[in-house]
Amino acid sequence: MAERVIVKEVAARDGLQAQPKHLTVEQRISLLEALAKTGVPELEIGSFVSPKAVPQMAGTDEIAANLPAATLDYSALVPNMKGYELAVRAGIKSHAIALAATEQMNQNNIRKGLEDTFLMGEELLDRALSEGVAIHAYLAVAFECPYEGAVSEDRVLALVERLMAHQPARLVIADTIGAANPAAVHAMMQKLVDRYGPERLGCHFHDTRAMGLANVYAALTAGVRQFDASAGGLGGCPFAPGAKGNVASEDVVMLCESMGFATGIDMPKLLDAVALLGEMIGTPQGGRAHSWLAKQCA
Ligand code: COA
Ligand code: ZN
Repeated sequence: MAERVIVKEVAARDGLQAQPKHLTVEQRISLLEALAKTGVPELEIGSFVSPKAVPQMAGTDEIAANLPAATLDYSALVPNMKGYELAVRAGIKSHAIALAATEQMNQNNIRKGLEDTFLMGEELLDRALSEGVAIHAYLAVAFECPYEGAVSEDRVLALVERLMAHQPARLVIADTIGAANPAAVHAMMQKLVDRYGPERLGCHFHDTRAMGLANVYAALTAGVRQFDASAGGLGGCPFAPGAKGNVASEDVVMLCESMGFATGIDMPKLLDAVALLGEMIGTPQGGRAHSWLAKQCA
């Protein structure tokens, strides 16, 4: 049987959070319906953040109340304890928290310094563990920060160690601005896989410098089996200038399946979701292999 790669679909959160065009709650629910039909095992629905900070994500509680019936893991991003409580109240039992590897990125993202962010994150992880809520802890700007420049591997390894002590369900290395290269990814992920095993590790790549898919490949060869990806390659962080879209889900599925891994994702249905997203945003969306994939599925 083919070895499995888990794709976590983040178009409805990372994809939409920095878009100048704000989708309505109804449109976001339609998008999630289309994404749920693809067979993706994990689907991020939005964020429980301040609507003043990220207006694109307002109404995620309403979305949580109207999720399509599907056997998959729905999750949401939460920036703090208030977000955690709102998400739990809305019935979401799997959350992402983003902790940046640099002082300035934390300041710009959640208005807290690095130490305060990590103290909050640790408290949240401990509470979630005792309440049966699964947390994916994201270490953001794990290779380069838009404000502080290069981030050393030693710093990342130390911060991962600190978070792993609080038992996140998954620790995700996030290249928030798409500045990593395959050699750096392979070196870092190999060390992390050797130390913690692949089960609790994931990677989140952006494609700013056209190295997104190469970075997925590098992490795969280091043993990582869980990847975030965004339908159509939509994505970006409102607080990380210069970040382009995430690696496109359809490209990641194509890469993994062509190498003999199973993702469980239906490509024609994924391309339907990409087309719907393009209609909603108002510009065609699609990953690097879009036209070839569209021809195969026609
Ligand atoms: N959800 C909704 N509202 C929230 C909230 C949450 N998780 N956390 C705080 N708030 C509200 C407070 O209730 C308060 O409301 P009020 O003005 O009506 O009294 C207001 O936001 C300010 O609260 P405060 O704790 O002072 O927050 P802040 O202004 O320092 O902002 C964050 C901190 C984390 C809430 C804000 O920066 C944020 O939401 N960031 C999102 C970051 C993000 O999504 N980044 C992209 C993905 S990595
Ligand atoms: Zn991202």
